[in-house]
Amino acid sequence: MAMRILFNSDLDDPEEWIPALRAHMPELEVEVAPAITDPERIEAALIWKQPSDGLHRYRNLKAILTLGAGINQLDLASLPSGVPIARLVDPSLTSYMRDYCLYAVLRYQRQFDEHAIAQAQGQWIYRPPREKSAVRVGVMGLGELGAATAQFLAEFGFTVRGWARTPKQIEGVACFAGLERLRDFAAETDILICLLPLTPETRGILDRRLFRMLPRGAKIINVGRGDHLVEQDLLDTLASGQIGGATLDVFAREPLPPEHPFWSHLRILVTPHVASTVSAVSAAAGVVDNLRRARAGERLRNQVDLARGY
Ligand code: NDP
Ligand code: OXD
Repeated sequence: MAMRILFNSDLDDPEEWIPALRAHMPELEVEVAPAITDPERIEAALIWKQPSDGLHRYRNLKAILTLGAGINQLDLASLPSGVPIARLVDPSLTSYMRDYCLYAVLRYQRQFDEHAIAQAQGQWIYRPPREKSAVRVGVMGLGELGAATAQFLAEFGFTVRGWARTPKQIEGVACFAGLERLRDFAAETDILICLLPLTPETRGILDRRLFRMLPRGAKIINVGRGDHLVEQDLLDTLASGQIGGATLDVFAREPLPPEHPFWSHLRILVTPHVASTVSAVSAAAGVVDNLRRARAGERLRNQVDLARGY
């Protein structure tokens, strides 16, 4: 019998995904929530978030495949237990993320942030750029996205260090592991990029304690999740000059509420959770591979370790 799956996302277009998936599994049947005809026939869910009525009525569900690299958009506690979850890992996602981080780092290295502030005040201020090698970038999280971003920035000429839970070896990148090395990592980081998953250990990690470990005037780029950042700590350390600027793509509340102080802060660049996105054509083969694995009862690729939280 042909495999039938459920698709649910308010960000991803089923018109793009369905032909991309069928190119690898022509017999695949895709039902787009909420118009599901026979819940018992659904074998897998391809979702950004679960449908509003949850996933419990899909009693033959063998896999939950997310349309994101992160899983925090899912309400994990409300998912049917025992169904494996796989996150999305794909070259298109990695490439968009590397490009976003390169843009954000170059903007600080070339002082375009300062030029924008000067322009708003009608001021002509000559500020020569610093050598790339003199700019020290620190990447928190050295997984699929963080490792690729760190290596890319190092190849581009920046001095790069990285921090993760377990030790890593990445060419051209000085790697630090564990909370006990966080201070050593931060002490020589001029531009801090957060590419961590959101877990109980990393929630609120971008706080005033960490900001004080950074050299004065350091910049923050948060492309992980909004709840990594303690918002008031950022505002306070921007006001004191300890932090010199922030590029924020993710927020505790999305969309960022209209009255939020980040919108109009001269030293904060806001982007609406667009640092990376996935191309259906690029990612479909990996998704179909996981559908086949789910049907065969095999372990999924990029299966989330729920005990670890990512
Ligand atoms: P991975 O799971 O591949 O990598 C996670 C990394 O974080 C690993 O290196 C891991 O360490 C490290 N880590 C986890 N917990 C800790 C901890 N307590 N202390 C130190 N390091 C820790 O994730 P991805 O690289 O694929 O994605 C990272 C995140 O990026 C996603 O979870 C998502 O939140 C965000 N994202 C944002 C997007 C956007 O558009 N803004 C788009 C896509 C993703 P170790 O290797 O030692 O286990
Ligand atoms: C993701 C995201 O996790 O887009 O993929 O945030």
